[in-house]
Amino acid sequence: MDIMPIEDIFKFNQITGKIKEKLETYNGLIRIVTHHDPDGLTSGSIVLKTLIRLNKNAQMTILEHLSKESIEDLAKENDKMFIFCDMGSGQIELINNLGFNAIILDHHPPKVAETEIGNILQLNPHIFGANGAKEISASGVCYLIARLFGYYDLAPIAIVGAIGDMQHLPFIGLNKYILNEARKNRYLSVIKDIVYNCYNLPISKSICYSTQPYIRELSSIDKIKEIFDELKINPEKKGITAKEAENLLEYFEKFNKNDELMVDRYEINHKINDAFYLSEVLNACGRKEMTAVGIGILLGDDECIKHGEKLYIEYKEELIEELKNVKLNSMDNIEYFIGEKGKTGIIAALMVKDKPVLGFNEQSEIYKVSSRGNKELVEWGLNLSEAMAASKEFGGDGGGHNIASGAALQKNYLNEFLEKVNEIVGKQLKK
Ligand code: C5P
Repeated sequence: MDIMPIEDIFKFNQITGKIKEKLETYNGLIRIVTHHDPDGLTSGSIVLKTLIRLNKNAQMTILEHLSKESIEDLAKENDKMFIFCDMGSGQIELINNLGFNAIILDHHPPKVAETEIGNILQLNPHIFGANGAKEISASGVCYLIARLFGYYDLAPIAIVGAIGDMQHLPFIGLNKYILNEARKNRYLSVIKDIVYNCYNLPISKSICYSTQPYIRELSSIDKIKEIFDELKINPEKKGITAKEAENLLEYFEKFNKNDELMVDRYEINHKINDAFYLSEVLNACGRKEMTAVGIGILLGDDECIKHGEKLYIEYKEELIEELKNVKLNSMDNIEYFIGEKGKTGIIAALMVKDKPVLGFNEQSEIYKVSSRGNKELVEWGLNLSEAMAASKEFGGDGGGHNIASGAALQKNYLNEFLEKVNEIVGKQLKK
């Protein structure tokens, strides 16, 4: 038996035990509130499956962001019990002040590092000395509860959520523990393979739509087909052999991305049986605002799976097109662009080189912004969560992780906000 990598295991067992008991003894309607990204959707489905199996009554709300307004809205129904997944730790004071009976299962840095506040139980890895940005995602936190009921088959879904939050490069800490548990129970196996074999798509399309890694020179199907002609590989094939992969890698060496092309593939006990591809399909569902389809997929519905795979293609085609047209503006310490809703985060991430990139999109009176950095910038001191929090001065709010963060601000403050973030990031990177 592996030992759980948690500093304060006694405190951890105490709070997870209390959450289990709270679920077992509560007989009213339970409202799950979760986030629209892959980690949120997998979190919500792990909790939903757990509640259904426990014969509880449940409903689910999926949000892009747990704002003050949405909490106040939910408070109108706070006669129910709430389970906040992948959100809530940053808003725990307001949730408590509004008298919620709730469980918070989150991995974002908590405002209050306590497991119990008022009528709220909070499970968050940061309280137990584990890093929620690297070692466990919200779906993992939700799985830590599901496993107390013996639902070990849900571990691969937690792995899908962690991949969605980019915590798989490599899996460490609690993620590794969950991965090992899934392997031991034979719900998951790991194979070394070329990343393009993860997708249930003709190989030429897998390459064209790939953003992990993104190779700009390969974003046209015609260009890829030419290469495949040369290599004598059928571009319509779903999955290529090890020998073909070897030839392809040799050809792709010039793009300097080969270390990202050979990956650990996670085959899982789901109808979409590749964990990475499933996280990509869920991401498309969230970005295309079809989150119910995402939950349907996770519950194994065949029609939702077909729909989700189509959404993935649509989303990627739009994204590749947009990537070709992005106009990046440069300041001393940051770069930024104005883009379309649903894609600014990923485009920002793909554009990062030696400065963090901010992608804005206009939504009536506000700008939403997604900011992204990379590992090297974080090592030099970048903390985008802190930088995005500056939006409070400009009629909005923001936060997230040091490498990926978001905010909203009043539209007319765009330039002031950019100046401020440029200044904050400059100070961070000089330290
Ligand atoms: O929206 P986006 O994908 O850019 O969000 C990145 C991260 O920032 C997420 O973890 C999200 O929860 C967080 N965020 C936040 N406050 C906002 C917007 C995003 O804490 N207003």
